[in-house]
Amino acid sequence: MDDRNLLAVAEQAAAVAYAPYSGLKVGATLLARDGRFFTGCNVENASYGLTICAERTAVTKAVSEGARRFRRMAIYVYSHRPFSPCGACRQVLHEFAPDLTLLLSCATGETREVRLADLLPDAFAYPPDAPGRRSDASTSS
Ligand code: THU
Repeated sequence: MDDRNLLAVAEQAAAVAYAPYSGLKVGATLLARDGRFFTGCNVENASYGLTICAERTAVTKAVSEGARRFRRMAIYVYSHRPFSPCGACRQVLHEFAPDLTLLLSCATGETREVRLADLLPDAFAYPPDAPGRRSDASTSS
């Protein structure tokens, strides 16, 4: 899937975002290395802290479908400028794809390409041989 399609699908995902409190509709498309793609949108809650961002929705959907290795993520916001993912999403994306490239876009069509490694330098992660890291940490697809 090329970047144009990734962004078009992210825009479609943003269209179904549930954002009655902030009004900011966000959509994401996560492209897996096996060719599959997973979409996500933000899902807000009256108890604001329970809100889930679009990026984490997409990662959770992907991992729950057996995909753990990723190439690119497109993030679209219905706004006049592209948005960078929040800190929580950066950390969650880093868990599976520290080398991920992100395409950020918005309603004006302005698009930026950024690397997760530049957004989250010196990220927290267990070393591969750490005692707290179990065998199911290996990536499968
Ligand atoms: N949001 C995302 O979906 N992704 C981000 O990376 C930042 C914020 C959502 C959460 C909330 O529904 C709205 O944007 C405003 O914070």
